[in-house]
Amino acid sequence: MSDPSLETTVGPLALKNPFLLASGPPTASGEQIRHAFRLGWAGAVAKTITPDTMEIQDVSPRFAAWKDEKAELLGFENIELLSRKDEAYWTAEIAAIKRDYPDRVLIASIMASSEPGEWQDLARTVQDAGADAIELNVSCPHGMPERGVGAAIGQHPDLVGGVTRAVRKVAAVPLIVKLTPNVTDILPAAEAAVQARADILSAINTVQCLMGIDLETLEPRPSVAGSSTYGGYSGPAVKPIGLKVVSQIARELQVPLMGIGGISRWQDAAEYIAAGASAVQVCTAVMWEGAGIVRGMNAGLSGYLAGKGFSGVGALRGRALPRIGTHAALSREDRRFAARESPERCTSCGRCVTACRDGGYHAISIAGGEVTIERERCDGCGLCSYVCPGGVIVMLPGA
Ligand SMILES: Cc1cc2nc3c(=O)[nH]c(=O)nc-3n(C[C@H](O)[C@H](O)[C@H](O)COP(=O)(O)O)c2cc1C
Repeated sequence: MSDPSLETTVGPLALKNPFLLASGPPTASGEQIRHAFRLGWAGAVAKTITPDTMEIQDVSPRFAAWKDEKAELLGFENIELLSRKDEAYWTAEIAAIKRDYPDRVLIASIMASSEPGEWQDLARTVQDAGADAIELNVSCPHGMPERGVGAAIGQHPDLVGGVTRAVRKVAAVPLIVKLTPNVTDILPAAEAAVQARADILSAINTVQCLMGIDLETLEPRPSVAGSSTYGGYSGPAVKPIGLKVVSQIARELQVPLMGIGGISRWQDAAEYIAAGASAVQVCTAVMWEGAGIVRGMNAGLSGYLAGKGFSGVGALRGRALPRIGTHAALSREDRRFAARESPERCTSCGRCVTACRDGGYHAISIAGGEVTIERERCDGCGLCSYVCPGGVIVMLPGA
């Protein structure tokens, strides 16, 4: 069998592979976008462009990170604003990049004031420069909402519909609406965008957060001269939120989707595709590890598709969706029970005992260094299998 195809279509957009750079620091300049295209990214969403009249003044520092003991990233916060480069810079760069890389998809992310005419003018500007598509940033959760834009628009379906409808009137290129997860239910905003004739939805933008407080100084993080503000959470920690949002939209609406949030390995991308996305966008992982990660992502996804016998990305798309439903519909017949799969690897650390005693069903005990699971007491919740550091405890089917 020939190698599976990584080519994919997202609505009207055709991509060489499903990997795009999301709008953010990795797309803050034309040179970075060119660098990414050389490495194999199929597309890029430029850092959000605003009208020259909109003042963009960043603070320093503007990031905070939550890392594990090996300094691997768990979650990332930013309070960065939008592109500080002006319209003239971006129109020249868009035209030049498209000239050099006609086979890559270059998307212009835009944000204007709540005045529809401003959105239309900016949309015309980037479209005339040669952008392949326009992504409406109605989802930035920090800084911009206090000025009545960003997530302040995305949190109100009627405003999402209004901005989308206004830009649709002038946009001849495909129109993407980037949604905010900072809502109780994503569907009303998604529906409003689709009704206003968005071609594609992308999700998620960052999740509003406060990274932490320095207990020595009592300064919130990131500390800007001692103070902070609520920022946008991204990186591995937000993947479950992104997957939930993307699958929820895919189950309810017939609209092409770009999945975003916490993607750093090919497996993350494959999960988003199985949850209904046609392509994915990546930001934080590129900031952390460099744009070269696309090579491993392309190779890994290709190998996975081949191993599974999938002809291409399209064959994986949405494959998990029929298995996501209501709680009531879940089986009560298929019961699992805790078991020690390879007891010789057990170090008798006792974490399973403590977890099952204080957070479970008193089914695990330890005596003389020997761990015992009482099947009659085990409720099948699975907690012990997660706290076991050696992966010794597994959940096995039982009658
Ligand atoms: C430092 C930083 C700056 C960002 N700037 C923008 C932006 O200008 N426009 C935008 O639509 N999204 C912006 N984002 C959001 C990302 O495009 C993306 O939606 C989010 O970070 C989740 O993806 P990730 O986990 O791969 O980073 C930014 C994210 C980060 C971390």
